[in-house]
Amino acid sequence: MKPSTRILLASLLLLFSAGTVTAVELKPSDSAIVSKGKSVYRAHCAACHGFTLKGQRNWRKRKADGRLPAPPHDASGHTWHHTGQQLFDLTKFGPKALIGGNYQTDMPGYNDILSDEEIISVLSYIKSTWPKKIRRRHDAMDRKAQKK
Ligand code: HEC
Repeated sequence: MKPSTRILLASLLLLFSAGTVTAVELKPSDSAIVSKGKSVYRAHCAACHGFTLKGQRNWRKRKADGRLPAPPHDASGHTWHHTGQQLFDLTKFGPKALIGGNYQTDMPGYNDILSDEEIISVLSYIKSTWPKKIRRRHDAMDRKAQKK
């Protein structure tokens, strides 16, 4: 088996085990999905990430307990530096599952709380708030990641 085939099979396996067959595609221009995502956001994310997606104060500085505050999801944060798939995994499984070890974080995984559709809708809502230029850069990142 060629190494490239092996990598393809390994990533397919990863996708299946995560319960998603195709790579995640956010839909920031679909108003029905975005409005559903907005209510998911307000019910499940706003308490930490803020009603206006501004995150918690001094979000770059660890708190006294060593944990990070919730970062903003608007264009001032680094949410848009992650591909759609990475954002999906971060939300579904939580930062701890992805970083591993003894990593301590306030952010839970939403695997048992939100459906995959709800996670895609909330991330689509977040993306819909970014300026056009950033959305286009994010689209390009996703296209590049999907070609690998
Ligand atoms: C209890 C507080 C809390 C709630 C509720 C919460 N988060 Fe978070 N979130 C955090 C914290 C704190 C971080 C910083 C990650 C860390 O601890 O390393 C974070 C990080 C993230 C990141 C990574 C951002 C980046 O730039 O790296 C994403 C994506 C995210 N959250 C999405 C969500 C979504 C979507 C929801 C709602 C479904 C949500 N979060 C609900 C606290 C929360």
